Amino acid sequence: MSDIAPILLDWYARCGRDLPWRRTRDPYLVWLSEVILQQTRVAQGRDYYLRFAERFPDVRSLAAAGQDEVMKLWQGLGYYSRARNLHAAARQIVAEFGGVFPRAYADVRSLRGVGEYTAAAICSAAYDEPVAAVDGNVYRVLARLFDIAEPIDTTAGRRLFAELAAAQLDTRRAGRYNQAVMDFGALQCTPAAPRCDNCPLAARCLALAAGTVGERPVKRGRTAVRPRWFHYLHVVCGGDTFVRRREGRDIWQGLYEFPLVEMPEETDFLRVADAEEFRAALGGVPWRLVRSVALPEHRLSHQRIHAVFHRIEVGASAPLRMPGCLRIAERALGDYAMPRLLENYLSREEM
Ligand code: ADE
Repeated sequence: MSDIAPILLDWYARCGRDLPWRRTRDPYLVWLSEVILQQTRVAQGRDYYLRFAERFPDVRSLAAAGQDEVMKLWQGLGYYSRARNLHAAARQIVAEFGGVFPRAYADVRSLRGVGEYTAAAICSAAYDEPVAAVDGNVYRVLARLFDIAEPIDTTAGRRLFAELAAAQLDTRRAGRYNQAVMDFGALQCTPAAPRCDNCPLAARCLALAAGTVGERPVKRGRTAVRPRWFHYLHVVCGGDTFVRRREGRDIWQGLYEFPLVEMPEETDFLRVADAEEFRAALGGVPWRLVRSVALPEHRLSHQRIHAVFHRIEVGASAPLRMPGCLRIAERALGDYAMPRLLENYLSREEM
C-alpha cells in the first residue's frame, strides 16, 4: 500500500458520494450497478439501477424474465450488448452456480460481459477481495499522479497501469479504496478542468509539477468511425405498422425497428425504392410515399448513422408480405424496446 491510499480514503470520507449500490454488499446488486455504469454516467445510471433492482431483486428473477422485458427496461441506456450479457449471465448463474452469485474471482470473471474491471469491482465491493478495479477514472488519476506518458490503450500500457494500481491498493479495505479512487476521478481529478488548486494530492502529483496534467492520460489513437445510411420504412396499413427485431452481429441486436434498407452512401428515395429489400417488402402492392423525415446524424461510439424515415401508406386490404416483420397496431409501438434513434423519430412524429 502506498501513502496515497490514506489520503484518498480521507478525501472519500469527506467528499465521496452516497450512492444506492454502495449501501449493499449483495454481489448481485453490485454487479447490476457495475454493468449499468460501464458506459453510463452516475446521474443517469442511478434511476435505471433502482428500477432494475426493484423489478429484479435477485439473480433468479432476472434469469426468469424474457429478453424483451429486459431490453425494454434497458431502453435509453445504449450499448445494448450490456443488457443481453446481463440477462445471459443471470441464466448462466442459475445453470452453473445453482442460482447463487459466485464467490471466486475466476468464476465471477467467467460470467458473460464481466471483464477484469467489473470482476475486480464486484469482488472488492462485495467480498473485500484485495483486487484493484482499474477504470477510466483510475487511469487518469494514476497517469497524472505519476506523470505517465505511456498510452493507456496498449497492452504494455494496460499492464503498467494494472501493476501501479495494485501497488496503491489498500488491501485491507479494497472495496472502499476502489470506490474512493473512482469518485476522486469523477469529482476532483476530472478529465477537463481538474480541481488542482484544492487537491489533497497536489503536493505529490508529478504531472502538476511538470505542467502536464492536461496531457495525461495519453491515448495512442482513436478507432475509425464508420458512416452508415439507414432508410427506415414506416409502413402504415389501416391503423397498423410493421416492426422487426434486429438479429445478427451488428448494433442494436434484440431491439425492434421498422423494416430497414441500408444504402452504401447518401441516396435519394428513388434508389431506395429500387433496392431489393424495399421490393421484397412492398413489391406487388400499390403504395404511396407520404413524407420523408431525415434525422440529425446519430452518433454511436464507432458509427455515425444518417437515418431517413419514409412514411409509406398502403391500402388497408393490400396483400403485404413484409418478410420477418411483426404486424402491430401503430399505437402499440411504445411497447417495443427500440434504439434511441427510433424513439427520437417517433417523438418528433408525436406517436
Ligand atoms: N462507475 C463505475 N462503477 C462505479 C461505482 N461503483 N460508483 C460510481 N461510479 C462508478
